[in-house]
Amino acid sequence: MNLVLLGPPGAGKGTQAEVITQKRGLVQLSTGDMLREAVKAGTVIGEEASAIMKSGGLVPDEIVIKIVAERLSASDCANGFILDGFPRTLNQAAALDNLLQAQGKQLDAVAEIKVDDAVLIDRISGRYMCADCGASFHDTNHKPKVPGVCDRCGSTELIRRKDDNAETVRNRLMAYYRETSPLIGYYFAKDKLRSVDGMAPISEVSSQIEAVLANS
Ligand code: AP5
Repeated sequence: MNLVLLGPPGAGKGTQAEVITQKRGLVQLSTGDMLREAVKAGTVIGEEASAIMKSGGLVPDEIVIKIVAERLSASDCANGFILDGFPRTLNQAAALDNLLQAQGKQLDAVAEIKVDDAVLIDRISGRYMCADCGASFHDTNHKPKVPGVCDRCGSTELIRRKDDNAETVRNRLMAYYRETSPLIGYYFAKDKLRSVDGMAPISEVSSQIEAVLANS
């Protein structure tokens, strides 16, 4: 099962990717996580991406496509994957089509998670995550079971992302509407687009995505 999660910043792509990969044994491929790891490791890609990510813009297509191409060819993707945050431009979507075709694979569905803009801002400003495993939490909507302790790995190092501030979020939203929202039409035309109500509680959104997968 190969799925793309499409949606603006804060829509719940990472949250849902985590739930579904655990349930179905798929691999989560988050380009945001991969880029943040490159920044942390101080690689050449990380140095190029760092300032762009801080400003809320999109990292150049050629960099992101190269990262995804390498990752998709790894053996753990053979049983299926969830792309979280990729593709984000029409160029990236075309590159993904080519990569999959070369590997004899195809996308089963693109789940578009729809959320109102005002709610996105609230979700992003309340979000924090585990510094060790990346699990995502929220001040009010999704607290860890034990305060200050990661549900997934038990770490007590919970941090906020540098790009989760009001100004950068506005830029990230603009980048979404300008560069990424055309993908809605792109996948609709390919009959891959399935929309889910991202305003619903997390478990309900997961059920809607499960239904998409079951019918794909
Ligand atoms: P990336 O890391 O992909 O960030 P994003 O797309 O802005 O998405 P987020 O991670 O902010 O949101 P999400 O949809 O995953 O929401 P989450 O589940 O955390 O990218 C970061 C940067 O990297 C980009 O700005 C760009 O610079 C670069 N980049 C990455 N990929 C790129 C690409 N392909 N091309 C070019 N550049 C790229 O949820 C948010 C919060 O809400 C959480 O606290 C969660 O607990 C809560 N929540 C989730 N669902 C619900 C719900 N249903 N109800 C209530 N609360 C909920």
